[in-house]
Amino acid sequence: MENPYLPKRVRIEKVIDETAGKDIKSFVFSFVNPQDRQAFAYHPGQFAEISIAGSGEIPIGIASSPTEGDMVMFTVKRMGVVTRELHNSSPGRIVGLRGPYGNGFPMEELKGRNIVIVGGGFAFTTLRALAVYLMGDERRKDYGDITVIYGARTPGDLIYRQELQAWASRKDMNVHITVDKGEPGWEGREGFVPAVVKQVAPSAKDAIALVCGPPIMIKFTIPILFELGFAADKILNSLEMRMKCGIGKCGRCNIGSKYVCKDGPVFTYAELQNMPQEY
Ligand SMILES: Cc1cc2nc3c(=O)[nH]c(=O)nc-3n(C[C@H](O)[C@H](O)[C@H](O)COP(=O)(O)OP(=O)(O)OC[C@H]3O[C@@H](n4cnc5c(N)ncnc54)[C@H](O)[C@@H]3O)c2cc1C
Ligand code: FES
Repeated sequence: MENPYLPKRVRIEKVIDETAGKDIKSFVFSFVNPQDRQAFAYHPGQFAEISIAGSGEIPIGIASSPTEGDMVMFTVKRMGVVTRELHNSSPGRIVGLRGPYGNGFPMEELKGRNIVIVGGGFAFTTLRALAVYLMGDERRKDYGDITVIYGARTPGDLIYRQELQAWASRKDMNVHITVDKGEPGWEGREGFVPAVVKQVAPSAKDAIALVCGPPIMIKFTIPILFELGFAADKILNSLEMRMKCGIGKCGRCNIGSKYVCKDGPVFTYAELQNMPQEY
């Protein structure tokens, strides 16, 4: 039996400085062995464990959509030991990758629905994967209205800026970008994400809302979604608990009887309401 902890070798092909010298970069990886890419069958909302010899291993959400080809992308904020080492890496470096893990977004359940994507800060990564997936030419017809509300502290903190601009110009997608505080040259919207959700007021009819962001944003967004008529089982959150194994073995990530790495990281708000408030 194959050792589930053994990472596959991936090469850093591209490093994208998402926030102009701040602390968020995207890393595009290719698999050294193409067969490993085939085995890495993922869908939006899942995560993987990235390892760097001598530094450690960390869980990171998959920011690319499986429809984007053989490359796999991760967007990483510099936090500590491993993320710093990754940020200091250049294209060509080989690192380890194991996964994909977690339940991801319920792709079948999203079919035929209006989709409301609400993201804040760098937690927008797996929502980016979802939006790219849903907007693919062959799949767009499978979904109703797609609304994206995304915010960051300042214009410089917005990730995927070029892509957001391209989405905003599409007629089959409602995109609302906001920053907490603008700066000279910023002509877009200012305001916190929950307030923008209230202003945009996406209909709850046949809709599912997917919300990822800092806890404070989630805390204030959920009541507004309730006001708009979203039921708790039609609001999805992705949790970022501390993890180690990523495969439900070590017990590091559990909340009550649930393993966030295996039963999650995506939970409905209804599920979260029934779990101990440890997240
Ligand atoms: C399912 C999942 C998906 C994730 N997706 C992403 C992603 O897409 N992009 C991204 O940048 N990060 C993501 N994270 C968080 C990422 O795993 C941590 O930032 C990373 O493990 C920090 O490792 P480090 O060695 O650099 O930091 P360490 O040296 O271990 O710690 C440095 C600092 O970061 C804090 N920290 C460490 N882990 C976490 C954590 N899980 N949550 C909050 N604070 C933490 C520590 O308390 C410490 O203050 C995700 C986490 C999970 C569980
Ligand atoms: S990280 Fe080990 S059980 Fe979830």
